[in-house]
Amino acid sequence: MQDRRSYFEQLAHEWDLRPLSQEQSEWLREFCKLACPPGTRCVLDVGCGTGLLVPYLSAVLREKEWIVELDFAMGMLKTGRQKYWQAATWVCADACALPFAPATFDSVIMFGLLPHVSDQRAALEEALRVLQAGGMLSIGHLMSSEELNAFHSQLEGPVREDRLPAAGVLASLLERCGARVLEAAEGPGSYRVRACKVG
Ligand SMILES: C[S@@+](CC[C@H](N)C(=O)[O-])C[C@H]1O[C@@H](n2cnc3c(N)ncnc32)[C@H](O)[C@@H]1O
Repeated sequence: MQDRRSYFEQLAHEWDLRPLSQEQSEWLREFCKLACPPGTRCVLDVGCGTGLLVPYLSAVLREKEWIVELDFAMGMLKTGRQKYWQAATWVCADACALPFAPATFDSVIMFGLLPHVSDQRAALEEALRVLQAGGMLSIGHLMSSEELNAFHSQLEGPVREDRLPAAGVLASLLERCGARVLEAAEGPGSYRVRACKVG
């Protein structure tokens, strides 16, 4: 069976053709604002794809800070870097083995990533490892877990079985990983879970 990495590599050239409504764009703006409270200096976007969040993060951070866009699919990164080469640092790596020292970032974002990671707990622990004490981990989707899981089950290929836990279930998992949950909310067209690394 095709693996997930080659599945996403194959989608890279058409990833930016997906339409985004005005409402979704507003949702992303708010998500990035909450993910990067005032004082945020270094943000890591894990599973960044072609850099969808870069303009939103740049607007919140106003160019003074460091944005790291990370993905395991080179094709996604190449497209993103072509668009926003100056705005971010582009890194090819796996979400479960982040190539950063502990406490490097004060915000870590996983937008549209978690269902595709085979060991979700390991990815969350990695995100918490590279966060500073008091830093924010934000997980988001433009669908509820029910909507997204139904969508994945209609697809062909390795993501067909990929599942996003309900927001409450993810919140419990984050607490077991030692994080303090600030928000766990989902509904039609929206999924947002945010947690703080306890110092
Ligand atoms: C559904 S896409 C979302 C991309 C982007 N965040 C967006 O919303 O446009 C999932 C992304 O996560 C990446 N990805 C999946 N598993 C990964 C892993 N284990 N490590 C790093 N990136 C991963 C894929 O290559 C893909 O670009």
